[in-house]
Amino acid sequence: VKIALFGHFDSYLVERLAAHDVRVLAVPDRPAIERILADVEGLVMRSVFHLERDDATRARHLKWILRAGSGLENIPSTFAERGVEVTAVPLNARAVAELALAMAWALARRLPAGHDGVRIGRWRKDELVGFELRGKTLGILGFGRIGRELARLAHGLDLDVVVWDRSPTKPEKVQAASVASVQFGDFVQVLRTSDIVVAALPGGESTRHLLTPSALAELRPGAVFVNVGRGSLVSLDDLHALVVAGRLSGVGLDVYPTEPPPYHPLFDLEGVLCSPHLGAQTRETRLEIARFVVDWIAGFERRRDGDAHDRPAVAPALTARRS
Ligand code: 3PG
Repeated sequence: VKIALFGHFDSYLVERLAAHDVRVLAVPDRPAIERILADVEGLVMRSVFHLERDDATRARHLKWILRAGSGLENIPSTFAERGVEVTAVPLNARAVAELALAMAWALARRLPAGHDGVRIGRWRKDELVGFELRGKTLGILGFGRIGRELARLAHGLDLDVVVWDRSPTKPEKVQAASVASVQFGDFVQVLRTSDIVVAALPGGESTRHLLTPSALAELRPGAVFVNVGRGSLVSLDDLHALVVAGRLSGVGLDVYPTEPPPYHPLFDLEGVLCSPHLGAQTRETRLEIARFVVDWIAGFERRRDGDAHDRPAVAPALTARRS
């Protein structure tokens, strides 16, 4: 089978696909994307790659896409419309939740400012007074896999957890809420009552700039805001204005409106901690995703070769449903 790998993957994946005709494209390059898409039957891709609507027409032989992660907003609906099986591999929740917590915790203790100071010989001990997580309120925007994992971790750290979600009555959300003593609230209420707000929402048009300037104005003075969802949720200019005005004590960003992002003055402000979309970048998650992909491809081949009842042994996967 001709398979394209768009992005960097765990070496297990490359080794286990050695029997296939594999084309690797490590970083986005439009002409190369178009050339490879015209040739392959399967595509495994990471979030930094963005397909265009017309790519579906170019991809004449393409039968499936595995989005080796959660977000599907970089795969236009034209692929599914042309019969391409589009599947997400949402196995990174723990890794992303840990990163969100790491960012929030580092900002609460003012570690980025302390680190910068020590590097240049400034001992700012007396200025850098932070806050403890114990007894504080964590607001989570989005109670999908990442939000639920984060709530579980936060509960163990004596944080009170409040959540805003668009579909809070789904059974898995109701159950997770009771295990982690989560309270659901409306959007503004969560922003107003939280010492730390973590955005763990998907991208796409429905969430674009959900955190408008007036929504951001509802954040508590001195709050910490962390975005591990998608960069399209909030404008960097709006966050910059809030930090400059001294309204927030910390901003943690793992995702950006475009990636990699061009320079923005927000990145230079004290209390701002930036990482290059590291959410899923743990050894454990990369390997788990690679194993899933290998098993899924083997299952696909068995199905193609006649056993219509065969399905990959590894769960869970999400088959794309697009509106
Ligand atoms: C996702 O959408 O799964 C995460 O944002 C991570 O994406 P990545 O694995 O492509 O870095």
